[in-house]
Amino acid sequence: ERGEYAHYMLKEIHEQAQAVTDTLEGRIAGGRILTQIFGVDAAQLLAKTDAVHIIACGTSYHAGLVARYWIEQLAGVPCTAEIASEYRYRDPVVKEGTLFLTISQSGETADTLAALKLAKQRPYLAQMAICNVPESSIVRESSLVLMTRAGPEIGVASTKAFTTQLVALALFALELARSKGLDAERYADGVRQLEHLPALIGETLKLDGEIQALAAHFVDKQHALFLGRGTHWPVAMEGALKLKEISYIHAEAYAAGELKHGPLALVDENMPVIAVAPNDRLIDKLKSNLEEVRARGGELYAFVDETVAHGLDAAHVVILPAAGEIAAPVVSTLPLQLLSYHVAVLRGTDVDQPRNLAKSVTVE
Ligand code: M6R
Repeated sequence: ERGEYAHYMLKEIHEQAQAVTDTLEGRIAGGRILTQIFGVDAAQLLAKTDAVHIIACGTSYHAGLVARYWIEQLAGVPCTAEIASEYRYRDPVVKEGTLFLTISQSGETADTLAALKLAKQRPYLAQMAICNVPESSIVRESSLVLMTRAGPEIGVASTKAFTTQLVALALFALELARSKGLDAERYADGVRQLEHLPALIGETLKLDGEIQALAAHFVDKQHALFLGRGTHWPVAMEGALKLKEISYIHAEAYAAGELKHGPLALVDENMPVIAVAPNDRLIDKLKSNLEEVRARGGELYAFVDETVAHGLDAAHVVILPAAGEIAAPVVSTLPLQLLSYHVAVLRGTDVDQPRNLAKSVTVE
């Protein structure tokens, strides 16, 4: 069933426009997100939601970290995103009016499921799940469910599950924000970005050849550093996770503002530094972080839109289509998935079944 594709991962990367289309299907009408997709009493629930606790593992946790920025920026609602294996053992304090939200592709991750069971003993408003498998344990145990419709994901490295999680989380963040009085124009713009996303994904994936050409530079590297700011910090974390899990190159992600607080010491000509950045209010700060990298001889790979690329001193620049605050994290994820894929293929690893890993982590 891989068809023309050499690996499931590559197939799944290229399925993302369709997976996002499917995840949006029947959820937006006339420029409005349909509130009832979050459950019959969703309107009252969102109105009562004063805080959100997001719990997940791995890639799904990275989706939660992106959503945290959206929920605070758009809805003005305090939000935390946390790894399930920590949450479940730390006696979390839950204030009234808090919504619990798990994110899981499989719906069977042991730590996430255990966290959900613990949350059911706490005074949360409700337990919502964003999940890709309808008959899974996490779906069964949750009071509200928003399904991603990525279809089966065979590659252990999560790709289309992540981008559809971002879409589901954007629907949630925008609808929560609307119920908290988000400016109508900003809401409409967010919805438009979602509707336009499949086309933008298609356009971005056309960069495959250009990204494949970069992969050769990474084959002999031992380490790589990923940088981003704002929503693109978790995008960088996801990029680093992809590279390490399938190519076995040690990769770390840092919020670019943290560079001077330690990791800059690692930067020399043997350290590829990968930066993802949209043209947002943090761009000038990020550019000055990147200059620090260049000044230490770091080999810089920038995945940025045209406006950012202008005047950027990087060894390699890949121009991504310009995208707004909702679409940009999805768009910026795609080249990082492709880069990891091509590096792993060149290194001859088992792309779809990396050593030591399982698709569904049902034991803690
Ligand atoms: O099924 P889940 O989303 O709950 O899985 C959580 C993690 O195990 C998973 O996201 C993992 O990090 C990815 N497969 C890595 O690509």
